[in-house]
Amino acid sequence: MHDPRRVAILISGRGSNMRALVERADGYDVTLIVSNKPGALGLQWARERGLATWALESKGLGKEDYDRQLSATLEEHGIGTIALAGFMRILSPWFVERWRGRILNIHPSLLPKYRGLDTHARAIEARDQVSGCSVHVVTEELDAGEVLGQAEVPIEPEDTPGSLEQRVLVAEHALYPKVLSEFVRR
Ligand code: GRF
Repeated sequence: MHDPRRVAILISGRGSNMRALVERADGYDVTLIVSNKPGALGLQWARERGLATWALESKGLGKEDYDRQLSATLEEHGIGTIALAGFMRILSPWFVERWRGRILNIHPSLLPKYRGLDTHARAIEARDQVSGCSVHVVTEELDAGEVLGQAEVPIEPEDTPGSLEQRVLVAEHALYPKVLSEFVRR
């Protein structure tokens, strides 16, 4: 059994949640940064910080083939917990089974509301008064695993999806490190 405090963060893009998880790490060690997009902005930041990185383009590779390579890399680094942070790829059932209960994700809505994409536009469209973010356990079903923590963010009348996203992101950056740190201790 691997040490749950050895964390890999999986990203596809800018990696602002990754940065928050690294900068606010408490009780866990960010051992590896992974990306399925070798050009991801967040990777550059991670390399500058001297963090170990592994990037493999997912386009063109079969889903399970990719996931087997990813899993082997995580094994090599002795990873115990996987934190998805803007990882824009659905993991195969094989991978989810292999790492069952050890994969977390952050999602920009108050789950179970608004699984999937365009959460901020959907919350505004529905005239919700409040939105927010959730950290949950990853299962085979998209954005549907056990919710471990949430933070609420009020929706203002003048909000656009972009302005709401910015405020929810600030809440994400506080929530994710806190929930991860509780998770690795349990
Ligand atoms: C965040 O909104 C997160 O909730 C979602 O993808 C976005 C990633 O942003 N899963 P960043 O790459 O962490 O800046």
